[in-house]
Amino acid sequence: MSIPQRIRIVEVGPRDGLQNESATVRVETKVALIERLVAAGLRDIEAGSFVSAKRVPQMADTKAVLARLRTPEHVRLSALVPNMRGLEEALACGLRGVAVFAAATERFSKENIGCSIAGSLARYAPVVEAAVAAGLDVRGYISCALGCPYEGEVAPRAVATLARDLAALGCREISLGDTIGVGAPLEARRLVEQVGRDIPLSQIAVHFHDTFGQALANIFACVEMGVASVDSSVAGLGGCPFAPGASGNVATEDVVYMFERSGIETGVDLAALIDAGVFICERLGRETQSRAARALLARRRRERPA
Ligand code: HMG
Ligand code: MG
Repeated sequence: MSIPQRIRIVEVGPRDGLQNESATVRVETKVALIERLVAAGLRDIEAGSFVSAKRVPQMADTKAVLARLRTPEHVRLSALVPNMRGLEEALACGLRGVAVFAAATERFSKENIGCSIAGSLARYAPVVEAAVAAGLDVRGYISCALGCPYEGEVAPRAVATLARDLAALGCREISLGDTIGVGAPLEARRLVEQVGRDIPLSQIAVHFHDTFGQALANIFACVEMGVASVDSSVAGLGGCPFAPGASGNVATEDVVYMFERSGIETGVDLAALIDAGVFICERLGRETQSRAARALLARRRRERPA
């Protein structure tokens, strides 16, 4: 398989990034962030989740955020839905995409969504069926695809079986999540090889957290195999509240820089994306995790001293 000419980036910062923030982020800030991401050329943006407000209070305002957004037709906003209630809320908000989220290990499944792996598939079956019937694009996440904070090693075969099951329910895309960012490139390759025996590569997305600094290398290893859908988070925000020790997702700026320099299209304007990252980092009072953003901002300062 040759390297794809074009990569679809799924921006998960407003969801995976902000779900893990200890500070409350105002609705207006979330709306302004998403508008900046759209302006930077991102077309697939995970805007929030319809989950228990007690468990993830940072996402409790997803409905209010979506009500304020007016995005162009070509932009696909989506949200996580853990059950029928979540799907109904997503439909009421006019979303065109939703994601269900399962896990490769029993313990993580229990901690994250309060049920077993089999229980989650049973819960998701009618959700995915109804979402597909309503014309939504549905993706299925698999957490702990390269390691679990509770159970340790994860067999690629277990991930592949779950990927096949989620695809059979009707998920168009399966996003393989290295929730705790432990995996390394050859492991990532082996995982994609294994999952690729059960579902087509065109149905696989990759979702790397960057805890051990392996995310970019992992992404490139998977893209070299033909994977053409990559999740990332502006400024490298993120983490899962139920994955102790995990850090943010790979930074979208770093992913865009890597592909741009490699001659692979993403459709994203890196300068505008960096501005979106600066905006959210200022609001959160933190430094960007993106190395490319830091380097390019330093270059901007050198070229345009204040
Ligand atoms: P449960 O306890 O099994 O079920 O929750 P429940 O039906 O008894 O609901 C518990 C409470 O949630 C109730 O409220 C429900 O009303 C409420 P209470 O009576 O306690 O006040 N509830 C809802 N509220 C809003 N929207 C809904 C909804 N459903 C129930 N749709 C449930 C099951 C999944 C809902 C719960 O465990 C939950 O919300 N968990 C949070 C899961 C989550 O958001 N995790 C983080 C995202 S996953 C992630 O980050 C990984 C990913 O990035 C990939 C990777 O990196 O690996 C995707
Ligand atoms: Mg994640």
